[in-house]
Order: sequence, then C-alpha cells, then structure tokens
Amino acid sequence: MENSDSIVTPWEVRGEVDYKELIEKFGVDPLTPEIVERLRKHAGGLHVLLRRGMFFSHRELNEWIDSYEKGVKVVLYTGRGPSGNTHLGHLIPWLFTKYLQDAFKCDLYFQITDDEKFLFNPELSTEQVAEYAKENILDIIAVGFDPERTKIFTNLTYSKPLYNMAVRVAKHVTFSTAKATFGFSESSNIGMIFFPAMQAAPCFIHQYLTSEDVHVLIPCAIDQEPYWRISRDVAPKLGYRKPAGVYSKFIPGLGSGGKMSASLPDTAIFLSDTKEEAARKVKNAFTGGQPTIREQKEKGGNPDVCVVYSYLYSLFDEDDKAVAETYASCKAGGLICGECKERLARKVAEFLEEHRARRERAKGSVEKFLLRE
Ligand code: TRP
Repeated sequence: MENSDSIVTPWEVRGEVDYKELIEKFGVDPLTPEIVERLRKHAGGLHVLLRRGMFFSHRELNEWIDSYEKGVKVVLYTGRGPSGNTHLGHLIPWLFTKYLQDAFKCDLYFQITDDEKFLFNPELSTEQVAEYAKENILDIIAVGFDPERTKIFTNLTYSKPLYNMAVRVAKHVTFSTAKATFGFSESSNIGMIFFPAMQAAPCFIHQYLTSEDVHVLIPCAIDQEPYWRISRDVAPKLGYRKPAGVYSKFIPGLGSGGKMSASLPDTAIFLSDTKEEAARKVKNAFTGGQPTIREQKEKGGNPDVCVVYSYLYSLFDEDDKAVAETYASCKAGGLICGECKERLARKVAEFLEEHRARRERAKGSVEKFLLRE
C-alpha cells in the first residue's frame, strides 16, 4: 500500500504511517470500544496494547468471538520471519497473542518462515536462517506461551503437512493476483511467487491435521494483511472458515520517523542488547523536547511526537494515571527529556533482564513446543 509519504507492504514499512488511511486501503475494520469490551469480558482485563490502541484494527473478530461463545473450537495463528535477532517491535504481536491464548485457552500455531527469509533475501543462506530461527524460537518461548497448546514449526522442517496444504491453496491463486497483491515482477524468483501459499497454509493446518471445524484468528502487524486477503478468498473454496485477524501498528523506531528496524540497529532495542546498550539507544532517541532546558520549561514539550513517550504509553507504563500525568506535565514544561529517558531506560532494562531469564529457561523446553514431521 502506497500513498504520498509512506509505504506499507509485507517487506517494507517506510515513512509516517497514517493508520486511519491504512484501515481504508487494506479494507479492515477499526477495533471499536464494543469489541474491546467483548475481549475484556473474556480475558478478565485489558492488555495494555489494547487499552492504548497499539492493536487498532481487525477482520471479523466479532465473528471469531461469536464462534467461541457458541462452542466452535477456536485457534490462533501467528508467525515470525527469521531474518535476524528479535527486537521489541517483533514482540508486540507475540505479547498480545499470549494474552489471547490465556483468555481463550486455545491452541496456537506459530510459523517460522525460514523459507521466506532465504528466498527473499539474497544475502541469507539456509544455514543462517536456521540459526536465526533457533535463536528466535527461544525468544518466542520466553514470552510464556502454554507448552501444551503451542505448536511452533519452521517451513523447511515441517514441510510435508505445510506443503500439502500450500498446494491446495496455490491452485486457487493466479499469478496475476499474486502480482497485484505482492508486487512480484518478471525478475522475482519462482520461490517468492509460491511463498504466499506457504504463509496461508497454517490458516488451515489444524483442519488438515485433525479434520475438526475450527475458527482461526491471526494476531499480527498490519503489514501482513495481504496474505490474509488471499487466505480468506481461498478458504471457502477449500471448505474452511475464513480466518479472522487482529492487527497492530508498528512501534516507532528510536529515530524520527519509520518503524523499529533490524537493518538500522540504532533504531531498535534488541532483546539481546545489554542494559547499557539499551540505555544508550534510549538516550539518543528522538523526543518532543525543546532545544534547551529553559525553552522546555517555558514552552513545554510535545509528547505527541515523542518516541520516548510513545514507548511508555504503548507498552512500558501500564499505570493509566502515571502516563496521563507524564503527558500533562511534559506539555506544561514540568518535565525534561532526560527524566523520561531515564524512566524508560529503567523499564526497558527490567524487561530485558526478565526476558533473558525466561529465555535461559526456554532452552530446556524447545522440544515440547516444536512440531516435527
Ligand atoms: N512473514 C512474516 C514475517 O516476515 C512471518 C509470518 C508467517 C507471520 N506467518 C505469519 C507473521 C503469521 C504474522 C502472522 O515476519
């Protein structure tokens, strides 16, 4: 999806993203207070990512909740492309997926697209993506998914069931649809052109494996939506329900403009960053502050454009009163940027430390989570 100043595709997110416009362009629906309330009712509380609008749009989430309430089996599906180390941006949909799994007590299929990253990235070898996959899987397990209900698989090692499902999908997708949806060209390699069928396959893998009637919900960042458009078109042709989806915004990069990006390491906090590295990145982050402390006190800062505030708001400060106070106080000139940066750096350091401990423990339970042929 392209407009004058931003691009959002499964491979590229650039510029200031206008989420209202994306809702229209992608043909998804805004997450209304009514749906959020339905989630709250089942979960017994609201995840901070919902309360603060990081998850902002959906496809047929109401129908998915209806299914659950009627006793139709529901499952979750999400994924990760192993092209590098995990950063905070990747974690957003995973944290939310865990919240949904806990609330709805359902199975989760977690796809690792080692094939995708090999095919789309000229620099990556199969060995490198396998290594990233191994590392990423530890981060995924560390999020705390239910080992009894979570099935993690990589496309290159769980190929037989996935390929069986993917060919059934592929038969219903023309090259012209794939080109229009993903921008493929004459010079795209043929693996890339088939790949969307591999990402669609897990939408139907539970049905394939068990013959049960299930309703799938995909929590992910909005850039993955083009895959689900194809999956939803094909679903009825294969006799399956259309997958529902719930979509997040991107966490901004620490610089000004753009999302957190692994290819620009200073814009991203990696889960492997030391406390000191993370603190340095936060310290250099873009804020809404004035050039001098005197001006900051006189004119106040601008939390609406401040990346540090947006991290506190979107994820790191769950206390509604505290964030409201930060916002007001910043605007009134009562806060200087160093204070907010310090607060954020402390929260990030705490989070990273806990994550690392959970990741260490995850090393002993990988086999429990992995689907093998
Ligand atoms: N294509 C995604 C990526 O590059 C990985 C992925 C596969 C995915 N299946 C998914 C993401 C389902 C979200 C939901 O990261």
